[in-house]
This record gives sequence, C-alpha cells and structure tokens, in this order.
Amino acid sequence: MEILGKFHPLLVHLPIGFFTLGLLLHVLKSRKLVEVNDPLMRWVTGTNALVAALSAITGYLLSQDGDYAGDLVLYHRNAAIVFTVMSVALFLSYIRKRNWLVQNAFWVLGLVAMIFAGHLGGSLTHGEDFLSFGAEEYARPLIVDPQQALVYDEVIVPVFAEKCWKCHSSSAKKGGLRLDSPENILKGGKNGKILTAHDAGNSELMRRLLLEKSHEEHMPPSGKTQLTAEEITLIKWWIDQGVPTKGKVLDIAQSEEVKLALATLVNRPITKVDLPDIKIPVVDDQTLKQLTDMGFVAAPVEMGSAFLSVSLYKSLGESFDQAVWNKVAPNVVWFRAVGTDIDEKLVSALKSCTNLYQLELRNCNILSSLTPLENLKSLKQLNLQGTKVSKEDLKVLISIPSLKQVYLFESGIQMADIPQRSDLLIDTGAYLIPTYPSDTILLTREDLVKSLESLQ
Ligand code: HEC
Repeated sequence: MEILGKFHPLLVHLPIGFFTLGLLLHVLKSRKLVEVNDPLMRWVTGTNALVAALSAITGYLLSQDGDYAGDLVLYHRNAAIVFTVMSVALFLSYIRKRNWLVQNAFWVLGLVAMIFAGHLGGSLTHGEDFLSFGAEEYARPLIVDPQQALVYDEVIVPVFAEKCWKCHSSSAKKGGLRLDSPENILKGGKNGKILTAHDAGNSELMRRLLLEKSHEEHMPPSGKTQLTAEEITLIKWWIDQGVPTKGKVLDIAQSEEVKLALATLVNRPITKVDLPDIKIPVVDDQTLKQLTDMGFVAAPVEMGSAFLSVSLYKSLGESFDQAVWNKVAPNVVWFRAVGTDIDEKLVSALKSCTNLYQLELRNCNILSSLTPLENLKSLKQLNLQGTKVSKEDLKVLISIPSLKQVYLFESGIQMADIPQRSDLLIDTGAYLIPTYPSDTILLTREDLVKSLESLQ
C-alpha cells in the first residue's frame, strides 16, 4: 500500500490541470465567449473529482510512512481536503444543474484551496525555502574564537541546519529522522538509533556521511550540498566525545586535526573600512597550500579579497619556510596565534607583515623579544590575552603610532604598569565592581552615580 503513496507527487498535477481547465471553460461560458455544453462540463469536473480523490488518498498513504511531519503537512492536508470536497461538489452541481452563483462559490473556494495545497506541497517536496514566503532561514552564529563557541549550538547545529534540516526537521522527516534537537537526534530514525556516543565508528550517521557519494544511502543525498572535510571531522569528534549538548569547545579534548577544523569556523566579520586601501596581488593556491603544510590556517578575509586572515594553533616547526612566508606577508592583515610559542622565527615572520592591522597572541608563550614588532606600521589592534608580556616589550609595542586598542586581560600587566597614551584604548579586564555591605543590593540613582565616580 505504501508504494502507492510514492505516486502522490506525480498524481497531484492532474487535478491542478483538470480544475484549471474546468474553471477556464466556466469563465468563458459565463462570459458567453464560447459555447460549452453541459456534458463537457460534467466530463471535465467529473474527471477532476476523480483525480482529486486519488491524489487525496495517495497523499494520505504517503503521510503514513513517517517521512513528513509538522504544521506544513497539516495545512497542506486541510487545504487538499477543501479542494477535494469542492471538486466533488462542482461535479455534483453540474449533474444537478445548480445555479451559477453556487457554482461560482465552489470554483473560487476550490481555486484558493488548490493554490494553498499546491504551494505547501511544493514546500514539502522541495524544502521550505521553495518560493520562500518568509520561511525562516537559519543564520550561522558569529564565531570569533572557536574555543569559546558552544559545542552543540554553535559548532554542530549549523552543519545540520544547513545540510540536513531540509529533509530532517519539523517540515520533512525523511527516514523518520529529525536532526533539529538533541532529543530528536538521540531518538534516531525509523531504523532506530543513528548514534553511538563515544564511538563514531559505530554510528549510522557517520557511516552515511562517509559512504561513497554515489551510494544511495549516502547523506546528504548526491546532488545536495555536501559536508566539507572539516565538518565531517567535527561531527566525528562530537560523537567520539560523547555527543555533548552543552558546554564550550575549550572544555573538550581536541586533536590537532580537530583544532584545525575548528579554526575554519571563524567568521568574524571584517568590514572593508578596516582593510588597507591598497591593491596587492592575490596569493596563489599553491602558496596557500604551502602555508597549510607549514601549520597555518589561512583564508581570504572576504570572498575574492587578496587580504588574508592567518591563524596558528601549534608552534612553528622545521617546516616553516621564510621564503614562502615572505610571499604572503604583505597580504596578512589579521594574524592570530593561540597557545603557541612566540619564538624568534615567529617574531621575524610577523615583522614582515607590513599591512598587519590586527594581531592576536592569545595564551602564547613568549620565548623571544617582541621589540622587532615595532615596525608594524599598520597595527591597530593588539590582543595579548593570557600572554605574559614583559613591561619592556609592552612599552615598545604601545609606542606603535597606528595602534588604537590593546587587550591585556590575564596578561599579568596592571593599568599602573602601562605608559599612558590618550588616543589608545587599553583593556586589562581588571574591572572594579563596587561591593555593598548587605547581600540585597538596592541601587538608587545616587548610588550609581557615586560608584561610577569612584571608578574614575
Ligand atoms: C534531500 C533530502 C535529504 C537531505 C538533505 C538529508 N537526508 Fe538523510 N535521509 C533522506 C531520506 C529520503 C532518508 C530515508 C531513506 C534512507 O534511509 O536512505 C534519509 C535517511 C537518513 C538517515 C537514516 C535514518 C534511519 O533511521 O533510517 C540518516 C542517519 C540520515 N538520513 C542522516 C542525514 C544527515 C546527517 C544529513 C545532513 C548531513 C542528511 N541526512 C541530509 C533525505 C535527506
């Protein structure tokens, strides 16, 4: 029986055709433009009623196999019922020769129901964005630092949302599976669980992702947007780490491969205004590949831009090649190193980045003097969070004229250690929070003004 349901998407085109034909004849006839005899109207509306009923039945059967769920299906069904009833009513009205006013009402109602049912049906088969009438699109969260991102909500959900929800969410439930909440994911599909926590190798979901693209069980099905290698790495990591649905990335063990995959999630918006107003050649793919081999993660700051954002998550090794680096150095506008050694090699690499405007050295281990960086003539932002910088180095860095902002949170540097410069915003993160003798704090306006004054 279920197999009949498969014919529904094909069959539904027939009532649309017959109904439209009948309506056209009805209008032409009432305007006296053509002679339409009653047997013809009975034949057209009768066939329409028949194919409408067949569509309704196959639609019902299709909905039974669990692939579709949610409000969309419900609205589609209700509109289709109204359409079918109107189709039968029209046929009867032509047999019983009802007056044209009643017939008009049936035609109008039927038409409205048909448009609704047709549109919703289209959305069910082609995805909700089909002829989007305000259908919500999933917006990827902004990720500045992947380590601070929420594992489930900000790393895993975006992958499912963009690549799977079209067929596995509230609107469509292909294979009986929804991937739009932790509960639904753990519940699995019509063949049971799709995940084995701590064991990606034994998880149906992983098996489907890794199958040959041409295999009929491969997900997403061929022809749909596929997962990137990094996304697959992250899903595997998530399963192997026990399918966490809460907590941050940094709380979870990561291999080097996972760290690199996470680094690709950075989508800090960089506005054009921030970029140097110069034209430089785009770095070729070959050189970008060499950068990757040297342990860097490099990407254009925006589509088609020659400027690069470069990240480093492990200390520079033997593979570092200054000659290759020199080729890209002018293109690097944003550099971030997290938890790596800042040795002489890295300092000299950074020194050559003449257009660098944002430098982030977070939780790094300083092994060499930073003095050579005073030549970074474009530097605007410097972030030394968690990096123990010496007062001497800081003094040199702060004297870079272009510098606008310095972050020194957890760097061991106190406000008092910093040479003052009026045009420079310095953030040590050591904020003073006024305390009150009682546990219950009732702030009056005066209190607020007073405490603000005491902070200044
Ligand atoms: C274009 C629609 C479509 C997209 C997109 C899609 N799937 Fe599917 N998926 C299906 C269909 C249809 C089935 C049922 C047929 C089958 O089992 O192959 C299915 C079945 C599955 C099943 C097996 C459920 C069970 O219990 O049998 C898993 C697991 C799965 N999909 C995972 C995914 C993942 C993960 C994504 C996103 C990366 C995805 N799918 C994207 C259409 C889709």
